[in-house]
Amino acid sequence: MLVITGATGQLGKRIVAELLRRVPAQRIGVSVRSPDKATDLAAQGIRVRQADYERPESLRHAWEGAEQLLLVSSDAAAHGGDPIAQHANAIAVAQEVGVGRILYTSHVSASPTSLFPPGRDHAATEALLAGCGIAWTALRHGFYAESLVAMEAQGLANGAIIAPADGPVAWTTHDDLAAADTALLAGEQVIDGPTQPLTGTEALDLSEIARLASEVKGTPVSRDVISLDDLDAQARQYGIPSGIRAIMLGYYRAAHAGEFSKVDPLLTTILGRQPTGMRDFLQRHLSG
Ligand SMILES: NC(=O)c1ccc[n+]([C@@H]2O[C@H](COP(=O)([O-])OP(=O)(O)OC[C@H]3O[C@@H](n4cnc5c(N)ncnc54)[C@H](OP(=O)(O)O)[C@@H]3O)[C@@H](O)[C@H]2O)c1
Repeated sequence: MLVITGATGQLGKRIVAELLRRVPAQRIGVSVRSPDKATDLAAQGIRVRQADYERPESLRHAWEGAEQLLLVSSDAAAHGGDPIAQHANAIAVAQEVGVGRILYTSHVSASPTSLFPPGRDHAATEALLAGCGIAWTALRHGFYAESLVAMEAQGLANGAIIAPADGPVAWTTHDDLAAADTALLAGEQVIDGPTQPLTGTEALDLSEIARLASEVKGTPVSRDVISLDDLDAQARQYGIPSGIRAIMLGYYRAAHAGEFSKVDPLLTTILGRQPTGMRDFLQRHLSG
């Protein structure tokens, strides 16, 4: 059985949909925190079991019979939790239940010295995987294009992106990443250890995004720089929790240092087509 965690999340639900096109539903299991959000999957014949990375006994039950485990990285850091401890729980249970391979959703910034806090968490998790004795693949995802439109939603809507200094980012869509992750989960290609960066084909900073957004919207979108301190003060005013602020500020520091800028052909090779470009992506998200 191929088991996918986080299957009610943005990435996980797309992976399940992709996998359904390749293997019978009876070969797919999902491990979700809220089975009531996965009734559509159960109705299609997918095994749905409840599990939380915080509770190893729930993982043991949900991952029973898993030949391969697609482990979606936790977003606990944003909410004051400890993603590394959660991933350690997950890896320990995968050992116990005899998982053959773990495919973990890592990030292009995975490094112990990353300025982006999740990059350090991904590096720590990759180190746990390297020492666990199970075959593993770290799917080093490019920065989600969906995160761009979430982070800069106000600026894209109002026509003025006001944010700290940044740098080029190889934006990559959930759809393209899910398709590539699924190809690797289904064994169409086997990669041991960290993949090359799975990215779109162009790295664009916020000035270039503003230019594209202006063209797509047909109205000007400007790009103005503020300091990290000013952004942090604004975020505090809005009551944004410290975990989210640390990730947000780390994003700009790491982008400015070029941590998200590498463009690599691996995603194109796995997909057998060009990944979605940012003009098309913005067209879809900003029009109408
Ligand atoms: N590449 C990037 O640029 C980028 C950007 C942002 C985040 N990420 C990482 O990629 C992951 C997937 O992204 P996404 O867009 O699919 O995010 P998402 O929609 O928030 O999904 C996260 C999934 O993780 C599950 N989850 C969280 N804590 C869990 C726990 N303690 N036990 C079991 N499951 C847990 C959630 O379960 P529920 O459905 O029950 O909430 C959800 O299904 C994120 O969690 C984050 O680590 C990457």
